[in-house]
Amino acid sequence: MNQPESLAPLPDQPGDDSPVTAGPIRVATVADLADIMVLERSGFDVGRWSDQAWAQELADPAHHHVAVVSDLSGVIALQRVGETAELLRVVVRPQARRHGLGRRLVRHGLAWARTQGASEVFLEVSETNTGALRLYQRAGFEPVARRRDYYGPGQTAVVCRWASAADQADTRSDDV
Ligand SMILES: CC(C)(COP(=O)(O)OP(=O)(O)OC[C@H]1O[C@@H](n2cnc3c(N)ncnc32)[C@H](O)[C@@H]1OP(=O)(O)O)[C@@H](O)C(=O)NCCC(=O)NCCS
Repeated sequence: MNQPESLAPLPDQPGDDSPVTAGPIRVATVADLADIMVLERSGFDVGRWSDQAWAQELADPAHHHVAVVSDLSGVIALQRVGETAELLRVVVRPQARRHGLGRRLVRHGLAWARTQGASEVFLEVSETNTGALRLYQRAGFEPVARRRDYYGPGQTAVVCRWASAADQADTRSDDV
């Protein structure tokens, strides 16, 4: 595991009802479950994970990696699958979005995948989730397939792949 990174507090956004801050990224524990569920509910209307699903992620550190920003403004979950990894989730608290936290979490997740020997990382994301698609593409993921009706009738998923050989500049981070 790489050392957690530090970042100075971020400025507030106009209209936010709570300050936007960002601490180091650390490995999540079961003690974070309730806070992670708040993030989960804030991030997804459909396809939301249950407490049990998140608890399972947290309980299997051999194959799963869950990391949170220490102030619980964001969470990421990955799973090692043989020599590849899957990026399962990244969620940032609504008031903290567009401050680079999603990017930091994805970089952290890719760094973890590399420590696991994963040369590829895959994910699925809704084709309508343009913000997430942009985030992933800027991190070096490329669309490789589409899965129709993946999230329900008419709801297509885009399968994206990141390969360590590419190791784009955006993933050579100084903050993982
Ligand atoms: C997707 C999500 C994690 C992004 O988090 P974030 O902290 O706002 O992302 P960042 O600030 O690090 O953005 C990094 C880049 O991603 C892109 N991006 C992120 N959100 C975007 C949006 N809403 N619209 C367009 N581009 C966006 C931009 O290119 C951005 O760089 P820029 O701000 O310099 O233009 C966040 O919007 C979220 O939690 N959404 C709900 C859950 C979800 O959909 N997760 C992804 C599927 S698992």
